[in-house]
Amino acid sequence: MDFIDLKSQYRRIKPSVDGRIARVLEHGQYVLGPEVTELEQQLAKYVGSKHCVAVASGTDALLIALMALDIGPGDEVITVPFTFFATAEMIALIGARPVFVEIDPRTYNMDPARLEAAITPRTRAIMPVSLYGQCADIDAINTIACRHELPVIEDAAQSFGATYKGKRSGSLTAIGATSFFPSKPLGCYGDGGALFTDDERLAKLMREIRVHGQDRRYHHPRLGLCGRLDSIQAAVLLAKLEIFDDEVAARIRLGARYTELIRKKFGAGPDARVRAPHVEAFNTSVYAQYTVEVENREIFETRMKGLGVPTAVHYPLALHLQPVFANLGQTAGAFPLSEAAARRVISLPMHPYLTDEQQQAVVDALAQAVA
Ligand SMILES: Cc1ncc(COP(=O)(O)O)c(C=O)c1O
Repeated sequence: MDFIDLKSQYRRIKPSVDGRIARVLEHGQYVLGPEVTELEQQLAKYVGSKHCVAVASGTDALLIALMALDIGPGDEVITVPFTFFATAEMIALIGARPVFVEIDPRTYNMDPARLEAAITPRTRAIMPVSLYGQCADIDAINTIACRHELPVIEDAAQSFGATYKGKRSGSLTAIGATSFFPSKPLGCYGDGGALFTDDERLAKLMREIRVHGQDRRYHHPRLGLCGRLDSIQAAVLLAKLEIFDDEVAARIRLGARYTELIRKKFGAGPDARVRAPHVEAFNTSVYAQYTVEVENREIFETRMKGLGVPTAVHYPLALHLQPVFANLGQTAGAFPLSEAAARRVISLPMHPYLTDEQQQAVVDALAQAVA
């Protein structure tokens, strides 16, 4: 059994992927070619944003968003300690200070009730993460941000395709940033990412920063990056977009079925031996990861491996405890809910091509592994 099965997907879309890649090889515009423009148009329409800027990775998307907002040394950016490293890494890389806000332990996303207390005169932006495929409570976050005139950047690396109160992830904040890493709900065959905004000025800035800060060829009013998406990755994404609605529907169905099977076997309470994820009523999740909570995770992991079921931990250490962030001065116990999640979470095989039989086998293995 695969943790993520990209081969079945390739078999399904092979003619389209191969044909589109062959066209790139023929026309020869390998970087920011016509496929990138077409992709940006399709993605902006899909998400419901005025502008899309395709970039080289989700990490670059976060960095470019922060650079476009002119954030740097002396500034603070609020985010969560329970996320992939890149979220806080990019804040620190541009010289700003990541300020952590505790998560809601049911969704693993920023707890808006704790946000306002973290805002200081140095705060320049708020960067919630939509973890595992469901959006953070963006309305509550936007309301507080608006009161303090702060921009919000949604780290939507794991939630492309998800909806929040009927609107698509990526379109909900001043800037949305996503990733097309191969294992993401919409992934290419290498690195890729995208930025979304309704703000024309920000879109123009982000386009310039993507190409070394140039506003016209060899003219640089600011510093930027080599953060472009290449045409072959755009071609792959265009082929995958053709089946994306269908894949999202499969993810939603499979996620709901996992939860039903797990709750039937282990119960639905907070003390269940395997705790299924909670999706808010106003959200749909694309289950970038289907992540449960268990006690004694290491034993559980070994047993699952022995039973032939691959698992993965996203993420084993809350970011305030990462060695590189020791200078922030937050020790164990500073964010107990994030720390508990980091000790307990484990992700199960999840992809649109998982069969009902495979899913049942995973749930049967869970029962043996927690016994
Ligand atoms: C929450 C989060 N933010 C940022 C990133 C960075 O994306 P990429 O790997 O495309 O640079 C990821 C990807 O793993 C992620 O999960």
